[in-house]
Formats: sequence, structure tokens, C-alpha cells
Amino acid sequence: MPIISPSVLACDFANVQRDVEMINNSNADWFHIDIMDGVFAPNISFGFPVMKAMAKHATKPLDVHLMIVNPDQYITHCKEAGAEWVTVHYEACTHLHRTIQAIKAQGMKAGVALNPHTPVSVLEDIIIDLDLVLIMSVNPGFGGQSFITNAINKVYKLKALIVAANAPTLIEVDGGVNDQTGKQLIDAGADALVAGSYVFKSDDPVATIDILKGL
Ligand code: DX5
Ligand code: ZN
Repeated sequence: MPIISPSVLACDFANVQRDVEMINNSNADWFHIDIMDGVFAPNISFGFPVMKAMAKHATKPLDVHLMIVNPDQYITHCKEAGAEWVTVHYEACTHLHRTIQAIKAQGMKAGVALNPHTPVSVLEDIIIDLDLVLIMSVNPGFGGQSFITNAINKVYKLKALIVAANAPTLIEVDGGVNDQTGKQLIDAGADALVAGSYVFKSDDPVATIDILKGL
């Protein structure tokens, strides 16, 4: 069964506690937390105080996606705000290996996200150190964008890279995920699916999570 990580970026920010509890009471596995700085990504979402407020109510692991420049500066913030998984962007890290080690040194799982234009081959020499790779199937910044189908090819390639290296790395995909794109991603080897609009804009988010869980 795939790991399902609903993206709270699509929740009702005036009713965060209600939406966090909906996820608690669903079959979702993680909370996907999108942090954007308006520099790396062309949007500002929310920061660590809001994440901390969510963590207070969340009963499942926080899967934090940092769409920010200079993520090293905020690793301790993530830890303090309750993150279990921290994913940084390949495109934002000059010394990616150092950043990954710094996340692990704080007892968190470390992931790397790849923008749609970044090939999976750039991870060849670091894959063994990664707990997770996040394939972006939209450009970072907004919920509700349409799925870039090349992400499916990237999942196949990444799976081959992981198997060749005998690495324990999970494959997560983020952006435009629904029952149809989700199915193709699972068939290609994805382990975890992020879904924002598909879950939160549906009439019955708990049932929609079950659909994804059943893929
Ligand atoms: C986009 C974010 C996503 C976003 C996905 O920059 O990383 O996590 O919330 O939203 P949907 O599922 O609506 O594409
Ligand atoms: Zn995300």
C-alpha cells in the first residue's frame, strides 16, 4: 500500500485544527508540510510557528518539504517544530551531502526533491545516503497545477538507480496527484504520494484518501 501524505497547503487555513484532525482520523500516513520562502519558490506559504501549531494536533509524522534557499539555516527549526522527515531541494543546496548529514545528525530522515527539469542521475553519488527522493511533478509554488507526465519516466529511472545501489530510499511524488496519475506513479515504483487539491477539494477527503491508499 502506498504511503499517502496529504498536503496541508490545500487545507482551510482558518480551520487548520479541524483539517489536521481529519487527517488524524483518516488512513493517511503523513502530513505533507510545504514551506516556501518567496525566493526559491514564487510564493510564500507559512513558516515554522504555523508548522509547530499543526504539530501540536497532528498524530502522524510530519513530512516537511522545504522550498527555500539556504535550508541549512532552518534544520534546527524543523526539529523543534516536530519534523520527522525533512526534504530539501537539490537546486537549493551547494553542499548537498553536508545538508543531508546535518538533517540526519538531528535524528530526522533526510530527503532530496528534484524540480521537473532536474534529472535523477544527479543523485547517483548520494542515493545511498538518502532516506527519500521527492520527484516534483509540478514546478514548486502552488497547489492545483497540472501533472507533468515526464515525472512517471523519472520514477522508473529513480527506481532503477535505487535498486542498482541497493539503497533503502523511498520515492515520493508531489504535484497534480489524483487517482489516475497516482496509479501510474505506483506502477512505476513510487512508494509515497503527496496530494493537496485532490484530497482537500473533494467532497469527502477521508474517502479520497482511501482511494489513494487503495492504488
Ligand atoms: C507545490 C507543493 C505541493 C502542493 C501539491 O509546490 O510542493 O505539495 O501542495 O498540491 P496539488 O496536489 O494540489 O498539486
Ligand atoms: Zn510539497
